[in-house]
Amino acid sequence: MSLKTQLLSAQCSTDLTQAAELLKAGEQVAVPTETVYGLAADASNPDAVAGIFTAKGRPANHPLIVHLGDVASITEWATQIPDEAYKLANAFWPGPMTLLLPRAEHVSPVVTGGLDTIGLRVPAQPVLLDLLTTHQLAVAAPSANPYKKLSPTTAEQVMHGLGGKIAAVIDGGPCQHGLESTIVDLTKRPFRVLRAGPITASELSAVLGETVDAPEQHDTVVPGNVGSHYQPNTRLQMVAADLSDLPAPQPEKRAALLHFGEAPTRDDLVCIAMPDDAARYGQALYHQLAQADQLGVDEIWLAQPPHGEAWLAVHDRLRRAVS
Ligand code: TXA
Ligand code: MG
Repeated sequence: MSLKTQLLSAQCSTDLTQAAELLKAGEQVAVPTETVYGLAADASNPDAVAGIFTAKGRPANHPLIVHLGDVASITEWATQIPDEAYKLANAFWPGPMTLLLPRAEHVSPVVTGGLDTIGLRVPAQPVLLDLLTTHQLAVAAPSANPYKKLSPTTAEQVMHGLGGKIAAVIDGGPCQHGLESTIVDLTKRPFRVLRAGPITASELSAVLGETVDAPEQHDTVVPGNVGSHYQPNTRLQMVAADLSDLPAPQPEKRAALLHFGEAPTRDDLVCIAMPDDAARYGQALYHQLAQADQLGVDEIWLAQPPHGEAWLAVHDRLRRAVS
C-alpha cells in the first residue's frame, strides 16, 4: 500500500496540530529529534506501534525507545526505578540519553520487542518536546530509516527512505547531534552503556559518582543491537587517515572520499571534507554518507577518524556500516 506522505513544517502550528491528530489516530509520523529523525507512533496504541515495524521492515523482536515529554512520566512506563535514574535524568534530560529500566506491567510487548525492560528518553528537540507535552503524548520511535540503512538527519532523507510508507514527516531542519542517543542499562549493576552516543560513559560516571561501563568493555547481544547496520547502499571501505593506502584509480570507476584536511587531486574521486572535531563529525557523518550514496559512485572510501572517548559513537557506527 502506498500513502501520500505529507511534509509538515515544524514552524507551522496548524501542521503540528495535524501531526498530533495523526499520531492520536494511530498513524506513523516521522519527527525531528536532536539526535536523528524518529518514526513515531502513539506508544499506548499497539496497532499504531506495529505499523512502525511494517513501514521500516524491522523484525518485531527489536525493542523501541519511548519518548516522553517530562521526567515525571517515567513512572507510567517503568517500574523499580532506581534513584540513579533520576540523577541521570535531571542531569541530561531533555537530551540524547536513553535509560533502560524494568518495564511497567501494562506496557505492550509490541513496544519492547517482548522484553521485560523498556528504553525511555525525553528528547531535547523543542518542537517534538512541545508536541509531547501539549498533546500529552508518549511516542515509540526508532530511527526513521528502512531497516539496516543509514539513519536520517534531515526530513528530505526520511522522505527518500520512507516516503509512501508513512502518513507524514515533520521538517525540523538538520538534527543537532546526527548520531543516536547513548543507551544506559540501569537494570543491572554495574550500570553500562549499551550503545555509545553523544553523552559519554565518563560524563554519566561523573554524575553518579560510580563507574558506568563503556561498550568496549562488554559485548552485549540485544535484538536490534546488530553487527551490520547503518549501511549506505554503496560499498564502504576505510582507508588510512593520511590517505597513504588509497587504492589506485581503475578504468571507468569513481569513488567518493570522506577525508580530513587537504583533498588529494585525482579525477576519479569526489572528495568530501569532514570536520576534525568529534561532535561536528558525528553531526555530519550520516548526512555525508547519504550524499555520497546518491552520487552513483562505485565505492565510498572513508578516512579513519581519530580514537578516544569522544569518538566512540562514531567508531561504533562505522564498524557496523562497513561490516
Ligand atoms: O537517538 C535515538 O535513540 C533515536 C531517536 C529517534 O530517539 N532512536 C533510535 O532508535 O536510535 P532505534 O530503534 O534505531 O534504536 C534503539 C535501540 C534498539 O535497536 C535496541 O538496540 C535498543 O535501542 N533498545 C531499545 N529498547 C531496548 C530494551 N528494552 N532492551 C535492550 N535494548 C533496547
Ligand atoms: Mg536505528
